[in-house]
Amino acid sequence: MNRDEVLDRLRRYESRNITQISEAAGWPMVWQRAKGTTVWDCSDRKYLDLTAAFGVAAAGHANPRVVAAGRRQMATLLHAMGDVHPHPGKAKLLAELSHRTFGRWAGRGEAKSILTGSGSESVEAALKTARLATGRRGVIAFEGAYHGLGYGALNATHREHFRGRFEDQLGGFCHFLPFPACETCDCAATGAGCSRLENLLAGLDALPRRREVGAVIVEPIQARGGIRVPPADFLPLLRKWCDQNGALLVLDEVYTGFGRTGDWFSCEHSSVVPDLVCLGKAMTGGFPMGACVGRSEIMDAAWPVSDGEAIHTSTFLGHPVGCAMAMAQMAELESEGLVERAAAEGAWLRTALASICGSMTHLRLRPVGRGLMAGIEVRRLDGTTAGDLVIRAMHRLLSEGFIILPEGAEAQVLSLTPPLTIRRRDLARAVEAIHGCFEDFDA
Ligand SMILES: Cc1ncc(COP(=O)(O)O)c(C=O)c1O
Repeated sequence: MNRDEVLDRLRRYESRNITQISEAAGWPMVWQRAKGTTVWDCSDRKYLDLTAAFGVAAAGHANPRVVAAGRRQMATLLHAMGDVHPHPGKAKLLAELSHRTFGRWAGRGEAKSILTGSGSESVEAALKTARLATGRRGVIAFEGAYHGLGYGALNATHREHFRGRFEDQLGGFCHFLPFPACETCDCAATGAGCSRLENLLAGLDALPRRREVGAVIVEPIQARGGIRVPPADFLPLLRKWCDQNGALLVLDEVYTGFGRTGDWFSCEHSSVVPDLVCLGKAMTGGFPMGACVGRSEIMDAAWPVSDGEAIHTSTFLGHPVGCAMAMAQMAELESEGLVERAAAEGAWLRTALASICGSMTHLRLRPVGRGLMAGIEVRRLDGTTAGDLVIRAMHRLLSEGFIILPEGAEAQVLSLTPPLTIRRRDLARAVEAIHGCFEDFDA
């Protein structure tokens, strides 16, 4: 099918409000195949993928060892029974997730997991676990948070754009506090003396029904919220508050997990051990699967032994192909040193982006992010966000052969979350093209 045929069928058969189609802007391109960091459209035109397709293709698109693992599994056992007769792949993956998370986090022992089919389901499993483990209904979440759009996860997602039309069907158990992303102070610093952290603590302590809070759910870096990095003292502060108030600390590492920010999980930058961690996206490199991983004692306190009718399950839970691909994906991240690459290439990228930012006259650009979760925040001199320019840059870059996306409620950040395999010269090419856009907009 050529592009026009694909788009015609989408217009006719896909629900509105899924795919944005703008002929004038040449949007969207239609994916035909992808390998590594390269995507080909249906006219065989090549693109450099600066998104890893929402952060999923961390070890590169169609990584040969991940694909081979999936193929082998498909040929042996394509589907099994989620919560009834298990298969070996599920047992292997559960043990691996325990080793990769709480097993590596000093002195915290083992973990148990609930496997899911997406990031939002991982969040929902975590919210249910916290409810059962603490017996408390309340949840603290953060302004700007994105935890997914299913009816459970949407409770903790902040943006009005997503919630507004459904607000009257949400549970109302989340209380939102400001996320202390520092636009002014140096986020690499601890944040000691940062007024945002002091205000946050005051806000937490002033909560009227503090003893009803069962969980604090937070992204270590807000990704969809605009690549917002909080000060290093933020997670330790939340850890301490949760311990003092009997609440669970739930980290949503759906986007930041599996090496994206230069550590296996982003909480490792501040040595904070959560009670529950939500995973998804890069876990399999392309099969829809995630996990809610929790300290074994907490998982056991929450969930009773099954009497044959699980309280929480789904048809495809622990899908054999997903399990096999997740094992291969983690092995690949490890053997190819991709987590370390994310740290090193991310540092290079940040310096390169900073040099662009410094050269503008009429625009205020700021490099943001950590590791290979990076971006440029774009503002005008009066401080207002310039999402219109980010969107223009995104369209122009697509026409120049780069797939790139905006982040933030006002699309104020041009974000780069490429496969962790991306070569330095490709990053340099991307930076040059981005520079070209903003130089023109700045003129
Ligand atoms: C931090 C975070 N949590 C949860 C989700 C939801 O994941 P999914 O789209 O797989 O449901 C996302 C998706 O972007 C995310 O970035």
